[in-house]
Amino acid sequence: MNATVLLTSVDIDIPGYRILRPIGEGGMASVFLAVQESLEREVALKVMAPALAANPEFAHRFLTEGKITARLQHPNLVTVHDIGHHGNVYYLAAEYIPGGTLKERIAEGGLGVGQILDIAGDIAGGLDFAHQKGFVHRDVKPGNILFRNDGRVVLADFGIAKAMDGSNSSTVAGTSIGTPDYMSPEQARGEPVDGRADLYSLGAVLYEMLAGVPPYQAADAFTVALMHVTHPVPELPEPFAWLQPLVNGLMAKDPAQRFNTGAAFVEAMHKLVASAPQGAVAQETGARRGGQRLSGAGATQQRTRISARDENKRPAWLLPAAGLGGAFALALLAWWALSPREPAVPADTRAPGTVAVPATTGGDATGPMPEGFELPKPVGVPASGELERLLNAGDALLEFGTTPGENLSRKLDYPEDDSALGYYRKALALDPENARARAGIAGIVAFYRRYSHQACDRGRWTQCRLLVGKGLAIDAEDPYLRQLQDAAIAGEGGQAPALPPPPAG
Ligand SMILES: Nc1ncnc2c1ncn2[C@@H]1O[C@H](COP(=O)(O)OP(=O)(O)O)[C@@H](O)[C@H]1O
Ligand SMILES: [Mg+2]
Repeated sequence: MNATVLLTSVDIDIPGYRILRPIGEGGMASVFLAVQESLEREVALKVMAPALAANPEFAHRFLTEGKITARLQHPNLVTVHDIGHHGNVYYLAAEYIPGGTLKERIAEGGLGVGQILDIAGDIAGGLDFAHQKGFVHRDVKPGNILFRNDGRVVLADFGIAKAMDGSNSSTVAGTSIGTPDYMSPEQARGEPVDGRADLYSLGAVLYEMLAGVPPYQAADAFTVALMHVTHPVPELPEPFAWLQPLVNGLMAKDPAQRFNTGAAFVEAMHKLVASAPQGAVAQETGARRGGQRLSGAGATQQRTRISARDENKRPAWLLPAAGLGGAFALALLAWWALSPREPAVPADTRAPGTVAVPATTGGDATGPMPEGFELPKPVGVPASGELERLLNAGDALLEFGTTPGENLSRKLDYPEDDSALGYYRKALALDPENARARAGIAGIVAFYRRYSHQACDRGRWTQCRLLVGKGLAIDAEDPYLRQLQDAAIAGEGGQAPALPPPPAG
């Protein structure tokens, strides 16, 4: 088994535990079903890759994070029972969750919309609880969402991602995380994160559950991370368009424009569902492999579960359901069409038609929303024609200059008046807080981090220093670039400097 391959060179005889069998394998750990002998209980024993133990900072953080997160007790969070090390084998014993991962369920296909919303609501509940206590997960992804036998989901691995990030190198946050598919823009940029980064990732997971594919797809991880920074919020395929406000509210580029808390998301979700067209919640997503449906046994036990809603027992005030639902759907479309956006990726999942929307000057387009339903602000401020033109030009050139091929690095910051940077700066002159322009500029800096690291990594010190200089010309304070700059100068001087790990991706 893979698990044994990873661990052949180490002693996995951990005192107090009897290993029964491998149950999973991640990028940085092997997970075993084991018995904790003192209590005769089954646990999931997560044994971290030996290479990690070589990093004293990791070892320290793993133990401290583990101790703290072991205090997080919530029905939607995997309980940590024990954490420790035996020699240089670091392990964590957690509640064993037998029902497989969301990653597997998505691959199987056929999740119903009700189940999907229940899953999102459960995870949001667990996140809300942890966020209130000041914890950020940082690696919310389908592989960390596990099913109990009753169909409920729990979130695994709180604190692990944090333990794997060097404390003094927030710029490389995320490098230890296996996939950029669910990474918030602020993580991709290496900025400090709070709970809203987890909500963004939850939005990406929600999108994938509905659309069947992650929000952004590209040939390499770096480009995917960049797309989280620069690309518009992805649009759900047509049958699920009524849920777009939830994706928008979770995946806004600017954390300030997201739902503030997991609880706010859950509330908005319930309001949206209450006003949804009849039958919407019973929708199924496309079956991809075999189209198996979940048993969802637990879903029927609680009347608040969305998947358990009985479509025939709608409250009287919602009737006639179809009419109201239709009006509401139109209102949503109107609001949604007002949010500035670019062609979505992937293009073939876009809603085919858009409705003609009367021009309004308002930004929030809250118009005919059901009472009490609050939509988060759309991404960016509503663009005037000129602002929109500048942003589109900037985004187009950012993509042009960061796509591998002969145009790589072209038109990013030169010439001044016809480059991505130039257009973003003009946009900022019109709207100094514009989130898209700021994200775009951050994307250019991120490109130089990556590109200069590649050059340094190949020992092309002078090239590396020049590329670093281009990034620093945009953001003189960038700590990662400064670190690389020191390395490049040392390398040019004939030394063999240690390099920081490559930035995200
Ligand atoms: N508490 C748990 N109970 C049951 N299975 C688990 C548990 N934690 C992890 N697993 C399984 O082990 C696999 C590897 O986990 P992990 O090393 O965290 O990697 P990843 O989260 O990237 O999938 C998971 O995909 C899952 O199948
Ligand atoms: Mg995991």
